[in-house]
Amino acid sequence: MGKIDIFTKSDKETKKLGEALAKEIMKPSSTKATEDKLKTATVLSLEGDLGAGKTTFVQGFGKFLGIKERIQSPTFVILKIYKINKKANFKNFIHVDAYRLKSKDFKVFGWENFIKNKNNIILVEWGNKIKNILPKNSLRIIFKHGKNFSERKIIFKN
Ligand SMILES: Nc1ncnc2c1ncn2[C@@H]1O[C@H](COP(=O)(O)OP(=O)(O)OP(=O)(O)O)[C@@H](O)[C@H]1O
Ligand SMILES: [Mg+2]
Repeated sequence: MGKIDIFTKSDKETKKLGEALAKEIMKPSSTKATEDKLKTATVLSLEGDLGAGKTTFVQGFGKFLGIKERIQSPTFVILKIYKINKKANFKNFIHVDAYRLKSKDFKVFGWENFIKNKNNIILVEWGNKIKNILPKNSLRIIFKHGKNFSERKIIFKN
């Protein structure tokens, strides 16, 4: 894929983008899912400015997966696990917020097993802070504030 820049003009548009990516990754033919199915969880590293829309994007992503609970930043709990009930490439949707954390914080509870489980789709806010414990092939999504109040630039990199 290389690098793709997308601009959104509202939180609604950023949510829609999250939904659209989830739809793509959940397609049975998705190369990413097929490749990763062989060995590890699929990990998306969400990076960039404070308040730039990472959680908003995750909410859209979760919406496509049929997650009914309200998705908020799991700031005080390291991660949240949601069961995916609909038929999909993955069984568990895991939302991590690494803002206050370091890689060593992940050593204590078996993070390795989360990463190894090919049934997991894992979205990590502030993934850049813990990149040494994420799979090398993780898709990076970088969020930046735009010129106007509700404009954002969202960069997909792999
Ligand atoms: N185009 C846009 N995309 C996403 N959010 C937007 C946009 N325009 C305005 N917003 C607002 O910006 C805020 C984004 O907050 P959000 O919690 O999603 O950011 P975040 O990157 O997760 O922040 P943090 O770094 O604190 O985790 C929300 O209040 C949202 O309504
Ligand atoms: Mg957030």
